[in-house]
Amino acid sequence: MILHEKIAAQLPEWRARVTKLVKEKGEVIVDKVSIGQVYGGMRDIKSLVTDISFVDPATGIKFRGMSIPEVLEKLPKPEGATIPYVGALFYLLLIGEVPTKAEAEAVEAEWAKRAKVPAYVYDVLRAMPKDTHPMVLFSQAVLALEGTSEFARRYKEGMKKDVYWEPTLEDALNLTAKLPVIAAFIYHLKYGDGKEPEYDPKADFGANFARMMGVKDKGYEDLSRLYFILHSDHESGNVSAHATHLVGSALSDAYYAFSAGLNGLAGPLHGLANQECLGWLISVRDQFGGVPSREDLYKFAWDTLNSGKVIPGYGHAVLRVTDPRFTAQLDYAKQHFPEDTLVRIAELVYDVVPQVLKEQGKAKNPAPNVDAISGTLQYYYGVREFDFYTVLFGVGRGLGVMANLVWARALGQPIERPKSVTTAMLEEAAAKAE
Ligand SMILES: CC(C)(COP(=O)(O)OP(=O)(O)OC[C@H]1O[C@@H](n2cnc3c(N)ncnc32)[C@H](O)[C@@H]1OP(=O)(O)O)[C@@H](O)C(=O)NCCC(=O)NCCS
Repeated sequence: MILHEKIAAQLPEWRARVTKLVKEKGEVIVDKVSIGQVYGGMRDIKSLVTDISFVDPATGIKFRGMSIPEVLEKLPKPEGATIPYVGALFYLLLIGEVPTKAEAEAVEAEWAKRAKVPAYVYDVLRAMPKDTHPMVLFSQAVLALEGTSEFARRYKEGMKKDVYWEPTLEDALNLTAKLPVIAAFIYHLKYGDGKEPEYDPKADFGANFARMMGVKDKGYEDLSRLYFILHSDHESGNVSAHATHLVGSALSDAYYAFSAGLNGLAGPLHGLANQECLGWLISVRDQFGGVPSREDLYKFAWDTLNSGKVIPGYGHAVLRVTDPRFTAQLDYAKQHFPEDTLVRIAELVYDVVPQVLKEQGKAKNPAPNVDAISGTLQYYYGVREFDFYTVLFGVGRGLGVMANLVWARALGQPIERPKSVTTAMLEEAAAKAE
């Protein structure tokens, strides 16, 4: 299998590089840590390593050094599509090179072979109360698949440490292949007739998801590709990526680890923000019966701030410019449905809100993030169940965190065990510093 061969070929050099660095330069100090950071959610402390993606505060996410516009331009696309294969992105994340069309299709073919979800998983989900949150169902389905883990099976048999990555790659492919199927099933179970989706081996990951969802507009196939690519990875410190890595570091397999990542993604400070953004845009539309004037929107934004709320979709913990994932989605909407009312409102908000946030002077970054528009695009295609949006995010995020888990195993990353201190110790350190 192509991914296996390519990683195996790269591994000796990577292992030598990391071993040399840690052995010879392990004492070199990378960063100082302040009391504010220790008490402040470890913000900005450099303590994780990934070569798969990096968020530059001044330019945004780079996947293996490539910006979003480069990724969208250079990765191979299915016939007639405007957005690349999701399989091409997964190849880029895992191998660090732009695949040929044949290589991207080889990844898609691996997924097609592995997409069938065992019947008992559907039974588990059907047995849950009807009002169960879609993210609970998603996380449960992933955990229910744990019994199929190749890593767990081989570990029990006593495999050597230097091959841990091989069954992890198998698990990563088996799991990511099933994510769009599980997500589409959850959609039908929660909001429709509960039918079990069928994966078409002749179509790619993005097209399959769109069709399994039952969205008739062919444009949703490209949007699905775009959505999964943009949401795949955002370096390693965000909650879903870090939770997956942390649990995986105990040698828990891909299913345990990703289920944990999804539980983190379900939090309102992480993956849930996209539905709040769409809610805010809809409240603008409803208040003004369509697209408001600049002045009306300016006042509406100030009213939101004055009532003690944040403007959802704006600001970021790391980024200091407009999120390129926002730009890619806005460009897509402007190309395909520029007259849509919510798209026009989102555009106007982009024009007005940064100014308002600058005047307020609190937010370090007054520019939009990925969530400012992602729900609007789903809404256009008729996927209007807000609760479901985090599941979509989870399908995309699975790609990034699984690529990371494979490399964490390949490079023998150890169990995570940071040290905690007491408040008294910090007070003592503060007194000494004075
Ligand atoms: C994303 C977010 C959580 C980052 O938080 P952060 O790193 O603490 O951001 P900052 O350092 O810029 O925050 C400084 C102040 O500006 C405020 N601020 C930041 N973004 C704001 C926004 N969009 N609207 C209003 N106020 C905002 C913060 O609430 C904070 O106020 P405080 O000092 O009274 O607590 C924050 O920008 C936010 O709440 N945005 C809106 C929600 C959202 O879009 N979430 C999705 C994130 S991908």
